[in-house]
Amino acid sequence: METPRVPSILITGGASGIGRATALLLARRGARVLVADVDDAAAASLIAEAGEAADRIRYRRTDVTDEAQVRAAVADALAAHGGLDALIAVAGVMRGQMVEIGALDEATWDLVVDTNLKGAFLAAKHAAIPMLAAGQGTIVLVGSKAGVTAGSGSFAYGASKGGTHGLAMTLERHLGPKGIRVNDLCPGDVDTPLMRRSLDEAIRNGADPVAIERIRAGLTPPAAVADVIAFLVSDAAAAVRGTVFTA
Ligand SMILES: NC(=O)c1ccc[n+]([C@@H]2O[C@H](COP(=O)([O-])OP(=O)(O)OC[C@H]3O[C@@H](n4cnc5c(N)ncnc54)[C@H](O)[C@@H]3O)[C@@H](O)[C@H]2O)c1
Repeated sequence: METPRVPSILITGGASGIGRATALLLARRGARVLVADVDDAAAASLIAEAGEAADRIRYRRTDVTDEAQVRAAVADALAAHGGLDALIAVAGVMRGQMVEIGALDEATWDLVVDTNLKGAFLAAKHAAIPMLAAGQGTIVLVGSKAGVTAGSGSFAYGASKGGTHGLAMTLERHLGPKGIRVNDLCPGDVDTPLMRRSLDEAIRNGADPVAIERIRAGLTPPAAVADVIAFLVSDAAAAVRGTVFTA
């Protein structure tokens, strides 16, 4: 009898925060994970933290806004793992928190929208190609409540996450009938470096410090979001399609 292949998972933005917690969880459960990120130091500390699961995590420096790098990361996962079962597109940045519309500069807009939306598109495009050829696979785009059910403190971030939501819905419509399940995961406020930097930026730009401290006190641990993502890429989630919200 043929031995089933170990699940192969590509995680963009897997070196920190939600992506890091997800990489650790899935590798500890036996999957082979390729982390595509731009933070070499965080990736090295992730692999050190993984302990016995370290040999199931590979890191490839990949800027998700660069199509050639994203294409190469997918090719790396295919070559190293013998296939690609899941893409978890987590890479993202948050800038422009509490900046008035008239003061929001084009460079901030481009950085946020390119990383969060174009990055998700490029990852989904290049992961979908081998998945369509195999007739199976699953894609999770990490969006946000911001831009879907609520506004954001940042015009650029809210717009990028609304776009990610539309991209995920469109992928699900087109790829779902071809055997590829797509979910848009929309977390609430999660305790990660991105969120901590964003709350600091909000205070610098005049947000009410008491309200910010209230948010800080109620942040969800990234491991709790990783549990949901791990479920979404598992066969147990075969009937789950579309948008999933977490605290
Ligand atoms: N933390 C929250 O409260 C929260 C809430 C909703 C949605 N999200 C989303 O979850 C995702 C992960 O956020 P997080 O809070 O874990 O942030 P984080 O900053 O801890 O992790 C983001 C990762 O993305 C990587 N990254 C940034 N730009 C990249 C690029 N161009 N190419 C490749 N990698 C890049 C970073 O190096 C980092 O490792 C983001 O898309 C974010 O918008 C976060």
